[in-house]
Amino acid sequence: MAKGGIRQKRNREGRLIVVSNRVADPKRDRKAGGLAVAVGETLEATGGGWFGWSGEVAPDARHSKPIVRLIDGIYIVTIDLTSEELDGFYFGFSNQCLWPILHYRIDLVHFEQEYYDKYRIVNRRFANALAQFLGPNDVIWIHDLHLIPMAAELRQHGAKQPIGFFLHVPFPPPEVVAALPRHHDLFKDMMAYDLLGFQTQRDTACFRNYAMQELGAVMSRDGSLQFAGHRIQCGAYPAGIDVDSFTELSTNAAARKQIASLGESVGNRAMLVGVDRLDYSKGLVERLKAYREFLKTYKENRNKVVLMQVTPPSRETLESYVQIRRELDRLEGDINGEFGEMDWTPVRYIRRAVSRSKLAALYRASRVGLVTPLRDGMNLVAKEYIAAQDENDPGVLILSRFAGAAEAMEQALIVNPYDVEQVAYALQVALHMPLEERRERHRALLATIKKEDVHAWSRAFLTRLQRTKSGFAGTLPLDKKANRAARQTTQKPAQRSAGA
Ligand code: G6P
Repeated sequence: MAKGGIRQKRNREGRLIVVSNRVADPKRDRKAGGLAVAVGETLEATGGGWFGWSGEVAPDARHSKPIVRLIDGIYIVTIDLTSEELDGFYFGFSNQCLWPILHYRIDLVHFEQEYYDKYRIVNRRFANALAQFLGPNDVIWIHDLHLIPMAAELRQHGAKQPIGFFLHVPFPPPEVVAALPRHHDLFKDMMAYDLLGFQTQRDTACFRNYAMQELGAVMSRDGSLQFAGHRIQCGAYPAGIDVDSFTELSTNAAARKQIASLGESVGNRAMLVGVDRLDYSKGLVERLKAYREFLKTYKENRNKVVLMQVTPPSRETLESYVQIRRELDRLEGDINGEFGEMDWTPVRYIRRAVSRSKLAALYRASRVGLVTPLRDGMNLVAKEYIAAQDENDPGVLILSRFAGAAEAMEQALIVNPYDVEQVAYALQVALHMPLEERRERHRALLATIKKEDVHAWSRAFLTRLQRTKSGFAGTLPLDKKANRAARQTTQKPAQRSAGA
């Protein structure tokens, strides 16, 4: 019946169809994590459908039908995976190959052909299931590294709708990407999209360079790419948050209660807060080392500060995640053992998800927000921390230069997360920063996150996507020579030397 409902609307008007691996229930409080929060907020505003993995594993998944639910005007369509598919597609290729390589960690890539095969099979299955729900006027927006080949697979079904792709994680320089086995075969499928969105200018430039150097694509003056007769637009679309609703969450009655009880539990000590998924890209070990350095060097702060580190785990069975967890447990124990007193625990480490409303209160109650990833696509925690501050007495954000957020949030204290002494010093500066300077920095940062909020992000991306006329219906050959030859005949001499 619900499927019928989708069909009824099909020919009348184009709908937005969002596709991502994880699909959040728009009604439930969402875990800390960029994609689910950002996409949920966009669809709530625009209506449409959200397609993805159900989160369930079933032995007969290959033969079962998609599950369709209508929640708050949004169609949620999901499919199950078999446990072999999940192992190869999610734990294998997505999280042991793509995740590390895109976060500049060639050393952590563990490639197996089987992973790649399953990744492609699951993408095909997603496309087969989605194709039956699509109307001719729909606009399709596919998200993140799990689903790179989706457009190419949908094109096999004859899909001519505009299809956009947004990469939530970084895109590194071509020499890094080239270390991934099968990268040509995978990334040529990015060329079946009409619009490619990246978090930052740096990621966009890296992708353009990769497409030209490794795939033989040709760049036009407007920055779009030509490949196998198809035009692909690309650009930076920094993801944002719903600033007003997050500010409300941090100031409502529940938040005030929460802040009072947090205050009671730490006494008159200053709180420092870190909220990150348990992941090696987040720089958690370096952060704890910097905190230890801070307590060692700036002794006057002992027993006057508490670091609240909230770290919900994911991908727990993978070795690199087991290791980082072990290392963090040990460091937390070391710091609390070395500096702690009967009435003071320097680090409070919470290794599970905390509701968004509690996080909002925690941010507001904290004097310093520590966002120090070694590499991060955007990092929405940085934006949430700013949105939650009291503008009359705001806390200070310490932000890694390697988070996408740093490209626009220049008034944070920008640090190199690998330099523990520098981060320790930044903590000292943040804790003793005069009120006027804190206010000035906060004012500028708040203006930036308001300008680049979740609505601006989706509006900018979707407006551009809707304007693209796809007409794409072919297959994508990886014929570097042919593409290069095309470039030589279509480019003017000046462009040719600039691209070389
Ligand atoms: C990042 C990725 C998302 C992913 C999320 C949680 O934000 O960009 O695509 O959903 O992490 O990771 P998980 O592996 O638990 O889905």
